[in-house]
Amino acid sequence: MGLCLAASVIVGLQFGDEGKGKITDFFAGQSDIVARYNGGNNAGHTVVANGKEYKFHLMPSGLAHGKKCFIGAGTVIDPGVLIKEMESFGKKNIDLVIDPRAQIIMPWHGLLDMASEKNKGANKIGTTGRGIGPCYSDCAARTGIRFADLIDEKRLHKKIKACFELNKKILEKVYEMDLGNDFSEEKIFGEYAKMGKVLGEFCGDVSLEISRAILAKKEVLLEGAQGTFLDNSFGTYPFVTSSHPTAGAALVGIGLGAKAIDKVIGVAKAYTTRVGEGPFVTELKSELGDRIRKQGNEFGTTTGRPRRVGWLDLVLLRTANRLNGTDKIALTKIDVLSGLEKLKICTEYELGGKKINEVPADAERIFECSPVFKEFHGFKISGTEKSFEELDKNAREYIGFIEKELDTKIFLVSIGAERNQTILR
Ligand code: IMP
Ligand code: MG
Repeated sequence: MGLCLAASVIVGLQFGDEGKGKITDFFAGQSDIVARYNGGNNAGHTVVANGKEYKFHLMPSGLAHGKKCFIGAGTVIDPGVLIKEMESFGKKNIDLVIDPRAQIIMPWHGLLDMASEKNKGANKIGTTGRGIGPCYSDCAARTGIRFADLIDEKRLHKKIKACFELNKKILEKVYEMDLGNDFSEEKIFGEYAKMGKVLGEFCGDVSLEISRAILAKKEVLLEGAQGTFLDNSFGTYPFVTSSHPTAGAALVGIGLGAKAIDKVIGVAKAYTTRVGEGPFVTELKSELGDRIRKQGNEFGTTTGRPRRVGWLDLVLLRTANRLNGTDKIALTKIDVLSGLEKLKICTEYELGGKKINEVPADAERIFECSPVFKEFHGFKISGTEKSFEELDKNAREYIGFIEKELDTKIFLVSIGAERNQTILR
């Protein structure tokens, strides 16, 4: 039987950092399985549970609940980072399966990422410098090293042999990088073979295991990294990541049939942030922006960079809902807006004298868009509210407006980082 209908996908509706980690953790309690389907350690998910803060880059956020975790074929894995992350949780407590098809980030990927950014100068993307783009490039070019290769010493040796010299030449001759003595084929092979030995026991067919779990009516949570507008096709190209964070990509990133997802949970922050370069129509380059950044602790989990901050943008969310097929929205960090006198929500863009309500397909046009705002009264949120009705009337109005404009239910409102600061409606 090929028909299965049980997986939920959690997807970011903006530029990443919507709080997917917290939402995934919240639902992980009721799930049997949590799986990552895209990206690598460019991601940074923060989960706060019972006063303890966890930071995940590669591991699915279900880890904090001790759930069975999967890393799918659509991801890129830096084995050193993964091992460190596993050790920090105590490797014995981790129930993890890694797909043999996942791509491995090699040392040259990080170097190429940084060299390419430097070479772009003012046109840089503002990547996390983790080698994500070069690793996915190798995957598409069919020159990548996969997890199955990493854990088989003989194959790893052959694979590294096949690509080391070329990458070294590119770094040295094209980018004029001084690589030093550490950058040797044997050294890299030695390090990676050792890591392959540590990780070998975690290898398993994620596609098969999750497909079977769905048939067995297990609750499966598919966790996206980054956000819709960092999608390699549908985001603000070229200011995007190199994978597909959108919901449909969960099927390809895990290896599931087209009908395997029955619930799409979109996560949106009550305002907008973006880290790195690229268009940002509602950006606040002002003291107010600084204030929200500070209140929301909007600094990258991965790189520590200050995030750019702006008002909530319904044009982004409307387009994201369409691209992902969002069933319902979890609205996060509304407490961060507490105490502001007035708030704005962007309802439409103005482009060439015309009003538009979806993000232009040609991402270059986004730079030319200006926001059309609606103003809202400020509100106070203490973070102790237990129900939607307990929320400040103005906050309810703010939320109600978003729901109405998007014609999508906001079923969850997050009013703080802790698990219990979550209001379900
Ligand atoms: P890369 O994924 O490192 O290649 O970076 C490409 C773009 O995506 C840059 O603007 C990054 O700042 C952004 N980015 C990558 N991962 C994340 C994330 O997890 N959250 C937010 N932005 C991200
Ligand atoms: Mg993040």
